[in-house]
Amino acid sequence: MIRFVHDVAAWDGALPGALVTPIPSGGHRRELLQRMVAKAFDRTLDEVVIEHREGRRPTLSVPTAAGLFLSCASRAGVAALAVAWSPIGVDVEIVDPLGTIPWNVLHPAEGAVLRALASDSRDRAFARLWSLKEAYLKAQGLGLRREPSSFEIRVLDGQCAAVNDPDTGDGVAVASTEWLDTPHGRAAASVVILNSQRSGTPRSSRDRSFQGRRRE
Ligand SMILES: CC(C)(COP(=O)(O)OP(=O)(O)OC[C@H]1O[C@@H](n2cnc3c(N)ncnc32)[C@H](O)[C@@H]1OP(=O)(O)O)[C@@H](O)C(=O)NCCC(=O)NCCS
Repeated sequence: MIRFVHDVAAWDGALPGALVTPIPSGGHRRELLQRMVAKAFDRTLDEVVIEHREGRRPTLSVPTAAGLFLSCASRAGVAALAVAWSPIGVDVEIVDPLGTIPWNVLHPAEGAVLRALASDSRDRAFARLWSLKEAYLKAQGLGLRREPSSFEIRVLDGQCAAVNDPDTGDGVAVASTEWLDTPHGRAAASVVILNSQRSGTPRSSRDRSFQGRRRE
């Protein structure tokens, strides 16, 4: 299980780390991600360079950190960011009472769950479901290159979910959602971590390379 923190200053720097917070514009998510990495490794901001390429997950290019995974998302003035030693994805979605549900890109079992709900609960459930689906696809490094109906998200309780994926079996360590209020309405922020996760803080190894810490 992982909980989002809402302020980099309130985060202890231990990995995996996930942050969800209001931002003034979409571009600010990148700076916040850089701040998280700097904090996790006890570096200054200018010692951290993250590469962002269209259609790809962000990667840390300076200093080298083989095996470190980053993810980011933003929607309507809210950013979600995550850093972990195993593949991680985050997403944030606003509950939209006027939105149309894209039934054709849902797994049939997900569609059945949503259809059984009253419309206001359905809007909330869809925001949560979609944030989990995108977070999972980002953790896989695929995004919407993969057909979203090809796997099923199953909600387990108010916070946790499971992924039923015929391609990977039991590959998910964490699939968790938190809710927050934004000026645009309620938002679901989700984080998904794939198995083979390594936890803990790297900060005690200030003088060693990122690569070295990864292999501890
Ligand atoms: C991942 C994706 C669903 C996110 O789209 P979105 O809802 O508009 O945007 P979000 O705010 O949720 O997320 C944006 C972040 O997704 C991340 N992202 C993009 N592609 C990703 C991928 N293949 N795997 C993991 N993360 C990815 C990036 O970090 C991006 O932020 P950055 O550019 O600042 O680094 C979408 O970008 C996608 O599917 N990309 C892959 C397909 C592709 O190549 N599309 C190009 C246009 S057809």
